[in-house]
Amino acid sequence: MKATNLILSVMCAATIAACGRNGIEARADRILSQMTLEEKIGQMNQLSTFGSAEAMHDEIAAGNIGSILNETNPAVINAMQRIAVEESRLGIPLLMARDVIHGFRTIFPIPLGQAATFDPDLIYEGARIAAVEATATGIRWTFAPMVDVSRDPRWGRIAESAGEDTYLNSVLGAAMVRGFQGDDLADPTSMAACIKHFAGYGAVEGGRDYNLTNIPERQLRNTYLPPFEEAVKAGALTLMTSFNANDGIPSTGNRHLVTDILRDEWGFDGMVVTDWNSAGEMIAHGFAADEDDAAVKALDAGVDMDMMSYAYVKRLKALVESGAVKESDIDDAVRNILVLKLRLGLFENPYVDESRIAEVTYTAESLAAARRCATESAVLLKNDHRTLPLDAEHIGRIMVAGPLADAPYEQLGTWVFDGEADHTVTPLDVLRRDMGQKVVFDPILPYSRAEASRTALDAFTSKARACDAVILFLGEESILSGEAHCLTNLELRGSQRELLAAARRSGRPVVTVIMAGRQLAIADDLANTDALLYSFHPGTMGGEAIADLIFGREVPSGKLPVTFPKNEGQIPVYHSQTMTGRPASGKEVLIDDIEIGAGQTSLGCTSYYLDAGFGPLFPFGYGLSYTTFEYGDISLDKSEYSADDTIEITFDLTNTGSRDATEVAQVYVRDMVGSIARPVKELKAFARVALAAGETRRTTISLPVERLAFYGLDLKRKVEPGEFSLWVAGNSVEGAPVTFTVK
Ligand code: GLC
Repeated sequence: MKATNLILSVMCAATIAACGRNGIEARADRILSQMTLEEKIGQMNQLSTFGSAEAMHDEIAAGNIGSILNETNPAVINAMQRIAVEESRLGIPLLMARDVIHGFRTIFPIPLGQAATFDPDLIYEGARIAAVEATATGIRWTFAPMVDVSRDPRWGRIAESAGEDTYLNSVLGAAMVRGFQGDDLADPTSMAACIKHFAGYGAVEGGRDYNLTNIPERQLRNTYLPPFEEAVKAGALTLMTSFNANDGIPSTGNRHLVTDILRDEWGFDGMVVTDWNSAGEMIAHGFAADEDDAAVKALDAGVDMDMMSYAYVKRLKALVESGAVKESDIDDAVRNILVLKLRLGLFENPYVDESRIAEVTYTAESLAAARRCATESAVLLKNDHRTLPLDAEHIGRIMVAGPLADAPYEQLGTWVFDGEADHTVTPLDVLRRDMGQKVVFDPILPYSRAEASRTALDAFTSKARACDAVILFLGEESILSGEAHCLTNLELRGSQRELLAAARRSGRPVVTVIMAGRQLAIADDLANTDALLYSFHPGTMGGEAIADLIFGREVPSGKLPVTFPKNEGQIPVYHSQTMTGRPASGKEVLIDDIEIGAGQTSLGCTSYYLDAGFGPLFPFGYGLSYTTFEYGDISLDKSEYSADDTIEITFDLTNTGSRDATEVAQVYVRDMVGSIARPVKELKAFARVALAAGETRRTTISLPVERLAFYGLDLKRKVEPGEFSLWVAGNSVEGAPVTFTVK
């Protein structure tokens, strides 16, 4: 180790005791004071792995790279790190990063599925498991959680989000931050979280990825920013700027967003990284004239690290020398990067134990947690005639078909770089293991977009008729959702709809399981299935979870984190819409009932679609069980509150059925009159309540009045006095309101 490095490591070791934020900043400043301008700029440069340490040797040794993403081989990571620590002049370690979105090796349901659990503790556990597995390779930074409120299923990235609700994204995003980072940032299993994509990316126009967004500041602050702010409060170490230009300003060049709000208002003291080449893409946006302009705009906005545009590493030195950029701005960025590396303990422990990965992946505990998450994430949307659960003991032959019955890679969902399909347990694996010869399997469609002839479908109908029940596994492959994978048609593709109709013609009970990365347009398919279980790409253990639910070993508790539209024309449709001045009554005349020659105003003038009405196919928060629940005697501890009070909401919750089960009790609030029009309902609290069959429990949920604050006409965040309505129910459309006042 070079003398300089030795001095540096002694200095670092000597001040470990003095750590703490100020100690770490002091250490960062000491390192900064020794750095050349080139070395500083090198820290601001993040590159994707070239595939080997040798290929990156010279750049690392010269101190031109601060972080490397997408390397996952622990031996290669150690080799790269050794070059940085032992060959570069100052021995500053690299920060290795990866998209560990919903698992590393053990794959959990996609985040949209995890959101359906309404179970922050379980989501924390999943993130912790992902961190333990990923850090065993030397990765110490993930680009997650994605907390983009998403209300458009045409947008493939809805799969990565916690859905349409601001509060749900806030709670689950914070849980993931805590899970990834753990209790001790210097612990080798701590992985820096990266809240993304800042901001408003989920509102891309037309649901087309990378498109512009037009979110006015008030709506940005009320709907899209709170999950980021909550993740900052949860201690997220980093944040990523988004690709979209909101109101014409790309986020990577938006100083108001990245400095005024994130740093000055919220006090974020972490590190900001661009999205992949999003600095350089400001040129394509027509917002930057060239790489110089892009580098200046990103740095001025408050971006510390440049992922893969090379604008910083190629242009900043000359820009400083020309006076276009102040070196003090470079220092601020590099300080944030050094502080991050110091907080993660990388200077003391830059290397990874290469034997650990084998010890910590696919443990029984991890697989059990992934199974529990897949179970809780499945949403029962239909169950006519109590078709489910099937009676495994007495049922005869079961016809199993569909492109997702045995699709180990597709079942993992999008953003699974390191999941291994050969570890996936598919539904067919479990059905065959448990039901043996009773299972008659024919996929009929090898993949979701495949076509089948009427002859083949008729043959399938005949085979199904000879069985006691049909289970179809339909949906979409992993590639059809996720980044850059947007759709205008959300119907079941290929001959899936015809396969469902063919199953219906068998006359046997039909159970349909849909695995997808988004809510699909399935309104016209519901009549062809007796039961429908929706499983947002459930991950490694999906097969076990789905079989447990089908045969009643588990009881569904999932609730929809997104509203299901009747068809694409209804998008965007979500629970927290505003009332409008002419709300639909729900009794509107629909297109097939409109008389010829109907007068211009004969239909009334309210806000609905002639061909789809007003309401969605399935509302936010909806999900059935194998039992039923009743809510009663909802009461509040007071009728009038001040802004710093907490509302104690108490209610009877009864399991009125014959199965022990868990209900997600949801609290919705409406601010009846505001300085701006307010949503008809907003989710403000929820609780998972496990009840034995027949049990009634007097349950209390606390709701801080402060959670009702919003940015009003004056763009100041406060709880406005006045009347409020509050619902406690099992979804966003049921229940009778109670009222209270905030003075
Ligand atoms: C991608 C995504 C971002 C991801 C990054 C690194 O383009 O937008 O979510 O973390 O690049 O892979």
